[in-house]
Amino acid sequence: MWTRERLSKLVKSKLGDRFLVVVSNREPYVHMFDGDEIKYYVPPGGLVTALEPIMEASGGYWVAQASGEADNLVVDEKNEIGCPPEGPNFTLKRVFLTKEEETGFYYNFANGGIWPLCHVAYVRPKFDGKDYEIYKKVQEKYADAVAEIIGDRPAFVFIQDYHFANLARLLKERVRNVVTAQFWHIPWPNSEVVRILPFKEEILSDLLYNDVLAFQVQYHLMNFLDTVNRFLEARIEYDVSRINKGGRSTLVRAFPIGIDSEHVSRLSASPQVDSMRKDIIKKYRLKDKVVALGVDRIDYTKGIVERFRAVDRFLEKNPQYLGKFVFVQLGALSRMQIPAYRELNDMLNEMMVGINDKYQSSGWKPIIMARANHTKEAVTAWNGIANLSMVTSLHDGMNLVAKEFVAARNDLKGALVLSEFTGASRELTDAVQVNPYYTDGLADAIKFAAEMSPEEQQRRMIKMREAVEYQNVYRWAAKLLSEIFNFEFVEYDSEAVGK
Ligand code: G6P
Repeated sequence: MWTRERLSKLVKSKLGDRFLVVVSNREPYVHMFDGDEIKYYVPPGGLVTALEPIMEASGGYWVAQASGEADNLVVDEKNEIGCPPEGPNFTLKRVFLTKEEETGFYYNFANGGIWPLCHVAYVRPKFDGKDYEIYKKVQEKYADAVAEIIGDRPAFVFIQDYHFANLARLLKERVRNVVTAQFWHIPWPNSEVVRILPFKEEILSDLLYNDVLAFQVQYHLMNFLDTVNRFLEARIEYDVSRINKGGRSTLVRAFPIGIDSEHVSRLSASPQVDSMRKDIIKKYRLKDKVVALGVDRIDYTKGIVERFRAVDRFLEKNPQYLGKFVFVQLGALSRMQIPAYRELNDMLNEMMVGINDKYQSSGWKPIIMARANHTKEAVTAWNGIANLSMVTSLHDGMNLVAKEFVAARNDLKGALVLSEFTGASRELTDAVQVNPYYTDGLADAIKFAAEMSPEEQQRRMIKMREAVEYQNVYRWAAKLLSEIFNFEFVEYDSEAVGK
């Protein structure tokens, strides 16, 4: 099993004198006002969990966009702050963007263009030359920040996601002795889809400045090789999955990201979460109800509309569940500056009112929606209550919500309804797999999951928990590092097993 400690040891032994820098759009610590006081919080999501042990072991730098209202008040003159703030072991360097930069870089190009392009969820991507220029300008800002940190030292820069498609080149133009790896957390679509991207040649070629470029699943990796083959002059070695271009070579890999399952499982067993569960059941009157749960950012790729439709169809077909079934959607509002996100949010409101109106009776409504940034504890509590978790993404690089549900179920109860279009469906083959575009199929899957026998739930849950524990976030990081530092990836730590 890969653990935080084992990963830490690996980083210490392999990094040598190389300096480590992580670059991501989201920062790992956000400073906000609480009355007159400044407090910080760790934003939800798996990235911090995954990268913190690496940061801690290496004592390196994390470069990310400032996002908190008090972020500027706690940094030094180089925009840096030691983290974790209560006992620093790495440095966070904040990049401050102007409104215009944030709009062009984050909203318009990254999330209005690349995001819908890669997810193929039938929201049309928008590409504007002006936005692309800002997208690159902002990455230059990041490249300058990283170059300033590194100086002449040999360094390893670990770049996260689609916000930084040009960064590897911009960095290598600035510093000499740098190795880069980039992890693309979202899907990579097939070449026919990429064809509509006006700047594809430059973006592809810039991604190939990385020494390692990794995707979530083999399918995305194959799509990438095929895309390069179609649009660039490059030599592709399919047998070793390596692309050679312009005297450089890039290893292309698939490493599914995971969670710290042990942590989630421990959290789920904690008295705090247990008491939250009791409060939730009381507050929402869930005792003796069949509870279906959705946990998502409000995003059109997550298939929330499809889920609502399926709940409607399920109740239409199975009136015996009226008064006995509740679907709870936890949702964090997201990217609301983009029209497609605002429209989705309005549409969900309308649908919920319509469906609730159609079926509700005194004291009961079939759909409850709680829009907020729910804490990890709250999500874990909800995960422990649900009879079924519904992950119905239209397309998703991995989807860690599914893995978190499984890790929270120490009681081996509950069923997972999982879209076949998520990366997670490749590992969680014991989930009830669905095509979210097919409303009747999804409605039937709800019934199937709701009526699954306890023995069957247990059988499937054991298998899924094994998969989630095995492919945890520490294994993901270790696999990536093994490619960078060219060592053989060992499944078992002989020291740890006492051999
Ligand atoms: C996806 C992306 C991440 C991103 C997250 C939340 O998982 O791969 O890079 O951070 O969504 O989106 P946001 O735009 O709120 O950072």
